[in-house]
Amino acid sequence: MEVKSVKERNTELMMHSVKFAKDEQARRKGQEILFKWPDIEKQLGEHKHIYVVDARLGSNNHTHRLWYDVIPPHTEEGQEWRGLGHRHTVEAIIYFLKGKGHSIIDGVRYDWGPGDLLSVPMFSWHRHVNDGDEPVLRIASTTGPLSLGLGQAVYEDERYPEFWIYAQEGEDARKTLIPGGGGSIENGKVGNNRAAEMYAEQVAFAMHEEQLRRDSKVLVKQKDLVFEPTAMGNLAYVVDPRIGFHAKALGVVMAEIPPDKRSGAHRHLYDEINLIVGGKGKVIVEDKTFDFDTLDVLSIPVFQWHQYFNTGTEPLRILGINTRLAMDNLGLSLTHQGEHADYV
Ligand SMILES: [Fe+2]
Ligand SMILES: [Fe+2]
Repeated sequence: MEVKSVKERNTELMMHSVKFAKDEQARRKGQEILFKWPDIEKQLGEHKHIYVVDARLGSNNHTHRLWYDVIPPHTEEGQEWRGLGHRHTVEAIIYFLKGKGHSIIDGVRYDWGPGDLLSVPMFSWHRHVNDGDEPVLRIASTTGPLSLGLGQAVYEDERYPEFWIYAQEGEDARKTLIPGGGGSIENGKVGNNRAAEMYAEQVAFAMHEEQLRRDSKVLVKQKDLVFEPTAMGNLAYVVDPRIGFHAKALGVVMAEIPPDKRSGAHRHLYDEINLIVGGKGKVIVEDKTFDFDTLDVLSIPVFQWHQYFNTGTEPLRILGINTRLAMDNLGLSLTHQGEHADYV
């Protein structure tokens, strides 16, 4: 085996850093953008759960993923769940397209139907139940890839206690929304100086975080969405910390474009996945055009210009799920606005 000198290895590692962004641009250009509903539907009929945008399947999206799934009538996700359900250290969004049912999240019941959306607070135990005679069709998006990259992807499922990391440590460990939590908010207070105060704040941080998660909004009913004109067109913010959610990574907006009109054009440093919830249209992504229909999914590559056009006769509604909040918190947010929408 060839043994590299320290000098050779250093050069190789440095050039990896120098070249990475240029290589990444090429990978973004090669990213698959359009996922057609008829192809997804065919597979869903047999498998009930289809990953659509996922880095493990070759997507260049590093921060979130999206899948479709079906919950058959009068059953629940994770068929054998009876109590806790599951919890995970990812932020999760669920949008219901068909059917009706309820979820139990951190012990609270939420009833939902088509067009409703759940923002599941980080590490809260949850279950989703189909109460109706029709199958529930939904999409879910999580920050799984981001958590995996951070090495902090904990997924505790009541069916697999042998893989629990924290929940087996007792009732406190099971109730908390903080992995390994249950500490005292007061326990770090020693001394009367600025450093001691700062350290005590650090110790108290997670317990405070838990409270904020419990105070967060969880359910958004379709009828409560408020659309307002913006440079990008008519937008409703669905999940955002500025409207009562304790979201740090995953945000959601809904865009509405009337027939024969177009949205604004923009590009940004965050990942974006779109679900077409109504109507049909086309999107221009840099120099390529894609025609889409209801229930298709679009994965928009980082920092590529994109603009949407309604080519149908119905209002075009697009659910945009993005990791802008994660990038804000990393200090890596940038949005460039281009042409404005032509109808506001
Ligand atoms: Fe979940
Ligand atoms: Fe966008």
